[in-house]
Amino acid sequence: MCGIVAYVGPKDAAPILLEGLQRLEYRGYDSAGVAVVASRALKTRKVKGRVADLAAAVPARFKGTTGIGHTRWATHGVPSDVNAHPHLSSDERIAVVHNGIIENADALRQRLEGEGVKFLSETDSEVLSHLIARTVEEADSLEEAVRRALKSVVGTYGIAVVDAQRPGEVVVARLGSPIVLGIGEKEMFAASDVAALVRYTRQVVHLEDGELAVLKADGFHTFGGDARETAKQPLTVDWDTGHYDTGGYEHYLLKEISEQPDTIARTLRGRLDDRFHVAHLGGLNMDARETRSFRRVKIIGCGSAYYSGQIGAQLIEELARIPADAEPASEFRYRSPVVEADTLYVAISQSGETYDTLAAVQELKRKGGRVLGIVNTVGSAIARECDGGVYLHAGPEVSVASTKAFTSTAAAFALLALHLGRVRDLSPADGRRICEGLRALPEQIKEILTQEEHIRELAHKYATSAGMMFIGRVRGYPVAREGAQKLKEVSYVHAEAYPASELKHGPLALIGPEMPTVAIVPDDEMLDKNLTTLGEIRARSGRILMVGHRETDQADDCVIVPKNQNELDPILLSIPLQLFAYHAAVALGRDVDRPRNLAKSVTVE
Ligand code: F6R
Repeated sequence: MCGIVAYVGPKDAAPILLEGLQRLEYRGYDSAGVAVVASRALKTRKVKGRVADLAAAVPARFKGTTGIGHTRWATHGVPSDVNAHPHLSSDERIAVVHNGIIENADALRQRLEGEGVKFLSETDSEVLSHLIARTVEEADSLEEAVRRALKSVVGTYGIAVVDAQRPGEVVVARLGSPIVLGIGEKEMFAASDVAALVRYTRQVVHLEDGELAVLKADGFHTFGGDARETAKQPLTVDWDTGHYDTGGYEHYLLKEISEQPDTIARTLRGRLDDRFHVAHLGGLNMDARETRSFRRVKIIGCGSAYYSGQIGAQLIEELARIPADAEPASEFRYRSPVVEADTLYVAISQSGETYDTLAAVQELKRKGGRVLGIVNTVGSAIARECDGGVYLHAGPEVSVASTKAFTSTAAAFALLALHLGRVRDLSPADGRRICEGLRALPEQIKEILTQEEHIRELAHKYATSAGMMFIGRVRGYPVAREGAQKLKEVSYVHAEAYPASELKHGPLALIGPEMPTVAIVPDDEMLDKNLTTLGEIRARSGRILMVGHRETDQADDCVIVPKNQNELDPILLSIPLQLFAYHAAVALGRDVDRPRNLAKSVTVE
């Protein structure tokens, strides 16, 4: 949710921390702060606002070669200078930045206040600096003091800690909130996301839950919960800084929408077999016999990942004829699900760090479930937790609203459905049809992107509506849900999604000139039914923007997308809705890449 960055080495820490925070700002952006160690004292700066405000507040004399930084997305306490991290101990010896939630913060605060500690902020995180300060004198090391402090904490954390008395050392720890180490030349970095590291190094080490690491300029040591040293193998990341630049676009969101011909091509690369019309998914770690043994598929994910899972469930039912359904991971994990041996579970996550999805996967694993991950971030917690899976290779998604990961996930599901189908009853002819359809996607997406100006005009026309209804049937329904989600999160226009078939069972009462409808109308076996629904809306003076394959005079406006195979059409139909949401948000002057109240990666419950 929030962003952490830490540095230890020969260079001035502040510019490195600020640059790292800038790259993490998409994860949290209501306040920011840095602390560096210099001459056995801490220097700190914290501001409410953006990293740019913090950079302006950091003076030139802010020198120190060890430091930590944070960009915040408020959970406990309003965004303010004092609530911004780092939090210091009362003697200003210890500074801590924290992501996650300390659930027993109130009890710890009461206890510490009883012992005379004065708190400055309203945050749960501040207890950490005081707890560490209370043991740091008698502990042999900072790492030992951190370990002892964390023993009394209930909740989740990714933390970075510095001690004014130990310049040249940073301690980091993780439980439920990611921490990645970056290995440099005689310097070490740590961050909550590789985005902050790629400018400096490609060699990274992901901490596991319960692990703690000590960083010094000449290297690092990692320790498990039992304080024993753990052996870690560095990974090389192939994402570079270019992925984190807007690349000439006004916003990351538009850049990421425009990247989709490439990102889909990357998801498909090397995975389609034209001889047998099958998909090769080496990461599944399942042989044909095992692949045939599943009698049900259950898909879990949150938000847009869940909606892409609905497209996935539809694809699996249609192509593999296995009963499949999707459910929000955030619900699934709390309802004590029945876990069956002959069900294949699939967890979806762009970030690979969404706490609800991770917790659902852990619950499944505890109950012996077989879980595959469809994940974008290589080496992320969800990817590591799963038995196997499919990486999207869509490159980092920076804008808070998910776009390219959504379509790549749907394409990955088409591959999975093809794979499951071809070891069952899907004919070679149908396999070929799907392979050809998948190969056509990048060019067809390019064609849709050429309509941006038309979609921009429509977005301007409809953006001032009081609200919008999104409807779709069967394959079109998840498309409608995702379209409504995109519109509301980036433009703040109220948007509701309904199955078109359900309109007459209630929501039709809302339809009128002030509530336009975006209707997803593919040219498939539902076409006539959908056109009848459009007639019902028109009869109530409702305005209609139709996204489909053929113009109709039932609609006020149309966006026509190229036709693919029926099963793959949802991928293409989603793209005009992304552009529509983007341009509506721009028209309304919204902060497109950082919508209010949201954060890119939701690592809290
Ligand atoms: C919507 C959006 C969110 C995420 C959700 C899951 O545009 O970005 O709904 O899809 O928070 O995130 P991941 O995929 O990282 O698990």
